[in-house]
Amino acid sequence: MFADVVERAGYGQLITPLLEDLGVFTRIGDATDVVTKEMYDFVDKGERHIALRPEMTASVCRAFAEHRPTTPWKVFYSGSNFRYEKPQRGRYRQFDQVGVEVLGADDPNLDVEIVALAWEFYARLGLQQVSLIVNSLGEPDDRNRYVDALREHFTECGDALSEQSRATLERNPLRVLDSKREIDQPFIADAPQISEFYSEGAAEHFAAVLAGLEALEIPFVIEPKLVRGLDYYRRTIFEFQGGTLDSAQNALGGGGRYDGLVEALGGPPTPGVGFALGLERTLLACDDEGVFAAEPVALDAFVVDVTGGLQAAAITAELRAAGLAADRGYDNRSMKAQMKLANRSGAAVALIVGDDELANGTVIVKPMHGGEQVVVPRSEISAHLTTHSDQN
Ligand code: HAM
Repeated sequence: MFADVVERAGYGQLITPLLEDLGVFTRIGDATDVVTKEMYDFVDKGERHIALRPEMTASVCRAFAEHRPTTPWKVFYSGSNFRYEKPQRGRYRQFDQVGVEVLGADDPNLDVEIVALAWEFYARLGLQQVSLIVNSLGEPDDRNRYVDALREHFTECGDALSEQSRATLERNPLRVLDSKREIDQPFIADAPQISEFYSEGAAEHFAAVLAGLEALEIPFVIEPKLVRGLDYYRRTIFEFQGGTLDSAQNALGGGGRYDGLVEALGGPPTPGVGFALGLERTLLACDDEGVFAAEPVALDAFVVDVTGGLQAAAITAELRAAGLAADRGYDNRSMKAQMKLANRSGAAVALIVGDDELANGTVIVKPMHGGEQVVVPRSEISAHLTTHSDQN
């Protein structure tokens, strides 16, 4: 379903490796937990320092720097990622993401386009309790001046700040804003706001993103304290939060701009924007809201073959090639046992082949939800089902 949403917007699939040179991910930033604490890395037999990918944005930028495709390069991906975290509901050491990245365009309308795609994906799943929060971290200079101001502010708080936040302050003052500790809250509430530091360009870009979201009637909340966990972000950042999930793991997905990352990976200066959505958290939210992502496949036919199984193999292959959904019984079980499976499968018809049918070159077509059974020549079974599948 995700592929369907994004392919219709011009995104092509990119498959990046599970393993990359460690250096690809250290470019994400050395002040982020994903790099300093959560990386699965090892030295391989050729003495190369390798990491299991903790996310896919850096790999996409590495691929861009290596292959230099024409821009704007609009790609989507899906796959597993690995982070050494404390496992709990919604937080796993191996988890799956789907996402998009666009490289080579600065247009704020792109930020709006990708948010709208994620929004459409959640809507198509049927999720209703998803909220969008947005912020801008400004240009790198704005962000640096803001970080200095935060460092000064939190340093003045001294020992009144929690011990954990004092440690975070040393590494990355922005992340102190993420603290959920009660004791830190008054200092966070008093902290300077990023919007006071925006350059004209950053303010204009952010205003254009917000205007675009309004034009598409996508509801959002501006959260000046949203900083996100990865260091590469500049300007727009956003997160989708699930209303049914615990607040520590309620980010269903997130993303933003990372205009300097391609350059850090050896490519030309290239703007970039994207998001990744966590699939396990999305499924938890689907469970909580009682919506289901995929309808079970409705089988057109279930083949019951009591002559050894070769007929079932041939008929299912033929039906599948004709575009019908077909399954069968295995292990040469009795007619009764196979009919039970046919019943349970929900198939529209059972196709029965016994010794007589094998000898006569026929198949019994037995409707499973009412109706008369008929005998059809074996050679006409696909055509018969194709013509009758609408009526079953
Ligand atoms: P992220 O916020 O680290 O961003 O991860 C995106 C989503 O992946 C999270 O919102 C969450 O749903 C899911 N996720 C992350 N860690 C775990 C975990 N340990 N267990 C389960 N789910 C998890 C990124 O990865 C960026 N690459 C997003 C991006 C793309 N920014 C720009 N382009």
